[in-house]
Amino acid sequence: PVIFVLNGPNLNLLGMREPEIYGSATLDDIAGQLEDQAATLNVELEIRQSNHEGHLVDWLQEAAADAAQAVILNAGALTHTSIALHDAVKAIETPVLEVHLSNPAAREEFRHKSLISPVAKGTICGFGALGYQLALNAASQL
Ligand code: DQA
Repeated sequence: PVIFVLNGPNLNLLGMREPEIYGSATLDDIAGQLEDQAATLNVELEIRQSNHEGHLVDWLQEAAADAAQAVILNAGALTHTSIALHDAVKAIETPVLEVHLSNPAAREEFRHKSLISPVAKGTICGFGALGYQLALNAASQL
C-alpha cells in the first residue's frame, strides 16, 4: 500500500522558517523519519511538496487514481483559503489526514478556519514534526 504525504506552500523552507513556531527540522529531516517509520509499517510513501495549489489538486487526484491507502496533507496557508483543495479532498474517497506543525487555533484569527477540516478524516496539529508520525501511524491503520 502507498500513502501520499503532500505539503503545500512554504513548507520547503521548514527548518529556517520561523523555527520558534515550526521547529528546526527540515522537510528532508521529516521525510527521513517518515521513511524509517514506513519501512517498519510495510507501507510505501510518496512525499511531495509544492508551492502551487494546482499541483496539490493534481496529486490528490493521483492518490485516488493510484488507490492510495490515505493522504497526509499539510496544505500550509492554502488550508485557510482554498476551495479548490476542499473540493479535491471531497471529490476523492481516499481518506485525507490533515496535519499542521503549529496549532492554528492558538494563532492569528485568519488561521482559525480550515477549509480542509470539514472534509478531512481527521486533523493532527500542534505537535510539530511529530504530527506527521502520528498521522502516518493513523493512516497505516485505515
Ligand atoms: C501550517 C499552518 C498554516 O497556518 C501556515 O500557513 C503554514 C503551516 C502548519 O503546519 O502549522 O504554512 O500548515
